[in-house]
Amino acid sequence: MDYEPYLPVRPRRLRQNPAVRKLVTEYRVTPERLILPLFVREGSGVRQEIPSMPGVFQLSPDQLAEEVREVQDLGIGGVILFGIPEKKDEVGSDAMSPDGIIAQAVRVCKKNAPELLCVTDVCCCEYTSHGHCGCLKEIGGRTDVDNDTTLELLKRQTLVQAEAGVDMVAPSGMMDGMVGAIREGLDEHGFEHLPIMSYAVKYASAFYGPFRDAAESAPQFGDRRSYQMAPDAVAETALREVELDLSEGADIIMVKPALAYLDIVRLVHDSFPEVPLATYNVSGEYSMIKAAAAQGWIDEKSVVLETLLAMTRAGAGIILTYWAKDVAYSIGS
Ligand code: PBG
Repeated sequence: MDYEPYLPVRPRRLRQNPAVRKLVTEYRVTPERLILPLFVREGSGVRQEIPSMPGVFQLSPDQLAEEVREVQDLGIGGVILFGIPEKKDEVGSDAMSPDGIIAQAVRVCKKNAPELLCVTDVCCCEYTSHGHCGCLKEIGGRTDVDNDTTLELLKRQTLVQAEAGVDMVAPSGMMDGMVGAIREGLDEHGFEHLPIMSYAVKYASAFYGPFRDAAESAPQFGDRRSYQMAPDAVAETALREVELDLSEGADIIMVKPALAYLDIVRLVHDSFPEVPLATYNVSGEYSMIKAAAAQGWIDEKSVVLETLLAMTRAGAGIILTYWAKDVAYSIGS
């Protein structure tokens, strides 16, 4: 034990106590940069837990009212609303009706939590009987989503949400030209001030499984690979999608899912450092941690904070997460 190394450089000097560790902290997860997804369905007194997503509920409008007041008080950045209509049809009419569930949800949100940022997911899949993200047509002997007709539907959905008082819209259907169409529709009707957060980089991912239970939006046939991105495509495909959406007027860009795509978050952030970047900590990412924590195999709070920190470090300024309230409570405590 008589060896005495000479070590002029000792990284541990800056790790030795909480004070010095705090001094060199770079990244922080804060509630005001988080957006909480909420599922809204018809009825009253409904607070129905989603079996594959413990702690996440489908709420009726009266329950939503309470929820958004709590979220506003917690200082969370915003909510993103998903509607589950009573009746679904081929084109998702409920989403285009001023009395539909999503329009009701927006009004409840703005009435009860006027300071809270209210965002809506703009897509057809929760509202169509077939569960696809647009209306269908026969193309060369197979059924596929009709891109350009869907744009018209998305435009109409957005206008209904805008009239109801939404603060920001988030198109998620991965239709070509969706941002441009929505921007045009909004601008023509005096909503040029409403920002668009585009799900610009959205992969066809198995991590959305539990969400489709929550939103009752699983495709009734086939899958979403004819419109969502291929996970095995060259990474730079993401940049093309971002460029397109920016040129069509997107204000905030989203990468989704988050955890298995942190390389893409970093790539987009480095390529467009001036553009606000969001990532969606999706349902499958939530369920995996919940399941392991329920077994006592991992510590939920630490793992969640570490996960959200990784997304922040990768370059996401905004995170959509089902844990937004938990983060607010645990940081506050
Ligand atoms: C589509 C939409 C989906 C999610 C958000 N918006 C599902 C899909 O593309 O099938 C998934 C979110 C999650 O998994 O948490 N409207």
